[in-house]
Amino acid sequence: MQKRVMSIMLGFAALLAVFLLLFNLPEKEEVAQDSHPIVVPDTPVDIASAESIYKSNCMACHGDEFQGAMGPALKQVGAEMSKERIYKQIVNGGGGMPGYEGRLTEEEIVNLTNWLGSFK
Ligand code: HEC
Repeated sequence: MQKRVMSIMLGFAALLAVFLLLFNLPEKEEVAQDSHPIVVPDTPVDIASAESIYKSNCMACHGDEFQGAMGPALKQVGAEMSKERIYKQIVNGGGGMPGYEGRLTEEEIVNLTNWLGSFK
């Protein structure tokens, strides 16, 4: 009898955990994204790393000379866009571009952003 009560309670706890995971976490993330303006830290650019990530993830759409292809040219992107907007575009994608959140590390995205931000 006591075992049954215990397993029912465990079942409820598990359900609650699933609920919290499914419904609470995304909401919190959204709030964090919307209410905190992004500030891209000014870390020194690791050019070798940025180039190699660019080659394997971005070049197909933005061109080997940043001249653009399916995606827009990036030659002057640092003059046209703030680093915050570049960062957001890489993280979220949009307009035909995939988002790289979870596919590249935060460090890699910040490095790419600072690298592209210097294209003026
Ligand atoms: C599947 C093709 C594709 C891939 C892969 C891709 N992009 Fe894009 N990218 C696009 C398109 C299309 C746009 C235009 C989006 C829009 O106009 O809303 C874009 C826009 C951008 C912009 C904004 C430029 C502007 O002038 O609006 C930046 C910065 C950018 N991409 C960087 C990257 C980086 C860095 C990577 C690799 C990590 C990457 N992209 C991978 C297709 C791609």
